[in-house]
Amino acid sequence: MKKIALGVCSSISIYKACEIIRLFQSEGLGVRVIMTEKATRFIQPYLFTSLTGERTIVELFDDGQRPIEHISLVDEISLLLIAPATANIIAKMASGVADDFLSTFYLAVKCPVLVAPAMNEAMYLHPQTQENIKKLKALGVNFVEPESGYLACGKQGPGRLASPRTIVDHSLRLIRSREAFRGKVVLVTAGPTREFLDPVRFLSNPSSGKMGYELAREAFQLGAEVILVSGPTYFEPPAGVHLEKVTTAEEMKQAVLKHYPRADVVLMAAAVADFRFCGNFREKLRKQDIRPVLEVEPTPDILEELGRRKERQLLVGFAAETGELREKAAEKMTRKGVDLMVANDVSGQETGFASDDNEVLLIWPDGRSRKIPRMSKRKISQEIMKEIEVLLNERRRQI
Ligand code: C5P
Repeated sequence: MKKIALGVCSSISIYKACEIIRLFQSEGLGVRVIMTEKATRFIQPYLFTSLTGERTIVELFDDGQRPIEHISLVDEISLLLIAPATANIIAKMASGVADDFLSTFYLAVKCPVLVAPAMNEAMYLHPQTQENIKKLKALGVNFVEPESGYLACGKQGPGRLASPRTIVDHSLRLIRSREAFRGKVVLVTAGPTREFLDPVRFLSNPSSGKMGYELAREAFQLGAEVILVSGPTYFEPPAGVHLEKVTTAEEMKQAVLKHYPRADVVLMAAAVADFRFCGNFREKLRKQDIRPVLEVEPTPDILEELGRRKERQLLVGFAAETGELREKAAEKMTRKGVDLMVANDVSGQETGFASDDNEVLLIWPDGRSRKIPRMSKRKISQEIMKEIEVLLNERRRQI
């Protein structure tokens, strides 16, 4: 992939640009920074030059060797991201003013442009700024909405630069989006469920939700509309994803069935608890009132239900096993009407539940299989989504 041009303007949130650069670099992307003159009052260009390994551009005319750099750089980049973007750069872009490198460069680029505004809430909500944003959106410029909250000027409201992770996720969607996923609805479940005995005691499992969250992030980056139905986890939801939080298997089933008719792909990565207590007490039970043997009943099998109701949906199931991986996963695949099964062995300590890495076996109903060796869950999610892209493309050809 080509590199990212990062336009940096004069905002107190300028320090977040360093984190944005780091996140791009961790995705294997190079960054070339362009600063406005006023931004150099906050941070010396040298900081960005050191971080990126490439000379930071400020002036239109400051490099005798490459006098028309704003034109030659155009062919080297896949995205122009402006973060933080001030009211001033947004106004200049909206009216076509080209009086410094960044504003001139904006007029020259042919790649997607993404703007992450950061300013005082009154400036952001000012009808003039809103008008400028509307105009740019109509011209095809993309925006990452600022967050609401405490601002450096002491005010509360919208205007705080979105988080670096959110900005980078939106950037990656613009450059990684794939035809197969555009306009598609991907429904992902993640995390464990909790089945309560009383308000303080529950049955659950050690799932952290990481695999499902990485799948949701990847589906968003590939261009899909993503709905994430999540049991209790400690992760921030990925950018751009519609999150529905649930606690029990029954709640997860209701949420999934509600969205199922619209879904094109369903990834059941949640570790749904298989049993719940017969009876759920509203008041905390006294220790001496709990019998040594508690009765349980099976929770609804959501995936099996989805398999029964399947129309055009592509169903992906997950199987966590401790031994006889292939046989057990294949049996579940057939019983639950799944189109692709992701099986993993959870007997090891370093992969599977609540760890950063995983090692999985993919199984298809036609008998094919593929082993994905140990790698990060982020990478595993990319491999799984590549296989889903193949299946989506195969279906499109059949229609
Ligand atoms: O039967 P088992 O729990 O091993 O099946 C795993 C797959 O079935 C996962 O995709 C999981 O999300 C799904 N499942 C479900 N409802 C349950 C139990 C599991 O949808 N009650």
